[in-house]
Amino acid sequence: MGDIDTLRFITCGSVDDGKSTLIGRLLYESKSIFDDQMRAVEVDSRQYGTQGEQADLALLVDGLQAEREQGITIDVAYRFFATPNRRFIVADTPGHEQYTRNMATGASTADIAVILIDARKGVLTQTRRHSRIVALMGIRQVVLAINKMDLVGFSPSVFREIVSSFQAFANDLQFSSIQAIPLSALQGDNVFVPSARTPWYSGPTLMSRLNSMAPASQGGAHPFRMPVQWVNRPNLDFRGFTGRVAQGAIQKGDSVCVLPSGLISRVKGIVVWQDEQERAGEGESITLTLEDELDISRGDVLVAQDSQPAVADAFQAHLLWMSEQSLVAGRPYLVKLHAKELNGSVSTIKHKEDVNTGSHLAARTLELNEIGVVNLTLSQPVVFEPYKVNRPLGAFILIDKMTQATVGAGMIDFALRRATNIHWQSLEVDRTARAQLMHQRPRCVWFTGLSGSGKSTIANLLEKQLHAERRHTFILDGDNIRHGLNQDLGFTVTDRVENIRRIAHVAKLMTDAGLIVLVSFISPFRAERQLARDLFAEGDFLEVFVDASLAVCEHRDTKGLYAKSRRGELPNFTGIDSAYEAPLRPELHLSSDKESPEACMRRILEKLR
Ligand code: ADX
Repeated sequence: MGDIDTLRFITCGSVDDGKSTLIGRLLYESKSIFDDQMRAVEVDSRQYGTQGEQADLALLVDGLQAEREQGITIDVAYRFFATPNRRFIVADTPGHEQYTRNMATGASTADIAVILIDARKGVLTQTRRHSRIVALMGIRQVVLAINKMDLVGFSPSVFREIVSSFQAFANDLQFSSIQAIPLSALQGDNVFVPSARTPWYSGPTLMSRLNSMAPASQGGAHPFRMPVQWVNRPNLDFRGFTGRVAQGAIQKGDSVCVLPSGLISRVKGIVVWQDEQERAGEGESITLTLEDELDISRGDVLVAQDSQPAVADAFQAHLLWMSEQSLVAGRPYLVKLHAKELNGSVSTIKHKEDVNTGSHLAARTLELNEIGVVNLTLSQPVVFEPYKVNRPLGAFILIDKMTQATVGAGMIDFALRRATNIHWQSLEVDRTARAQLMHQRPRCVWFTGLSGSGKSTIANLLEKQLHAERRHTFILDGDNIRHGLNQDLGFTVTDRVENIRRIAHVAKLMTDAGLIVLVSFISPFRAERQLARDLFAEGDFLEVFVDASLAVCEHRDTKGLYAKSRRGELPNFTGIDSAYEAPLRPELHLSSDKESPEACMRRILEKLR
């Protein structure tokens, strides 16, 4: 028996479409074959020394590990079965139908998709959503499993109507094949055995279709790419680079280039499961050794020397939003792209897509399950390829820094600028020189708290004191800045995020200028305060939580804004109908409703010294 390959597929359907029944039937009916197969594979392995079953079970486990490593909290069960022709891995994605996260995760590694439709219900919004995600994830071949045909009397007209309505919808999704099959997962019609009850249908059964479809990766030769997952250094004599071959193949003696550094070497050895190998192909997990000692770390990418992908730090991408908290442009997220992990944010939401029609809608945020086209900006250049060309090098996820939850799945369309086009100007009079001239250590004291908590009062006292001590200072105050630099911003979440993003950078520039900067903004969200913190060196950023209860702030109501808000005349007022996220670990926590402003100021002064 020759080599048998593996097809990965995903089943998508709404609740009660019969997905579990169908998967159950596939597993059940292939069971006897499965056992035979395994025996054959065992014989095979002994005879030819191939990896046989072991390799593929490992592949299965690998897949799960990769996702765990990527921090995706998912609920995808990978099930395994086989026929004499090939092995199958089916991503079974349970969970509430409202959540597309599981589905997207399953689809990201699948060759094909089986889209289930309940014959009684036809094409639903959920079907369209799933199909759109499947297309977005790069799946080109789908099987339309029109299930529960027994409940519509195996009616050919019901079948044809569903097929044509799906085809009309799927027109712009660029599927290369859509095979519709009328079936009953429950009774077995057209799953393994052609049904006598559909004499009007002459197409394949589901199983014969699955047996004959080509896995997605067999589409021609690609240049070698391998993101380095791990630098393997068990002893001083061995230094290997471990990862999975994302595309192409590699052979001993091949020239490889390390990106982004651009260093070049030759492959000395290829190790797979402790065995030396001459060559490795796409999808294999390997450890490479090189002829030269190069500085390579996790997240670098080894590529064929004669065909190199680009390096960039800004992209247009498609993004599937998977969180109940909306995506806000400008907010920092953790971005994971192959083995690379870095900071990034969506700088612009260009539009979102209507699930049903695919038309473009204007959007300021993305909500749960919405798909949008966005501009993504990263803190460093990364090696990438468009998702359409190379899935592993073009897919990324966004992680909420506070909760560590995966909130978005993205696919790179193209780079917006090459990282090499924008340089840091190196200036000769630097921060240290300026600070020395001023005889002080530049720092940022960041006041956060409700309106009326006393931020500005305390900041003001602190500045007077520092000034008296001949320190060079500056106050950035929300009310003032909103009259000038930020006069275009209001109080929606999006605008507040941008408000803080800008002012964080201004504060950073001012400390670079040598100043001690006092920032007094409500800055209600943790994510943006973290963004500000991340701009500064450890110890140069002091988050001061000016904490007074809402009742006290409202009682003070110096500007009359709380009263206005209570009357419904001022929407999105912090503490009333817009959230305030209190700091979890501020450098200073001041109870400004118990201590006097003077006492609060003294505590900051102490901390600064
Ligand atoms: S932040 O939330 O974006 O950080 P910022 O500190 O710039 O707010 O501005 C807050 C000040 O704007 C408040 O002290 C208050 O005087 C005024 N203001 C006007 N409308 C609002 C509102 N809806 N919510 C909070 N503050 C408001």
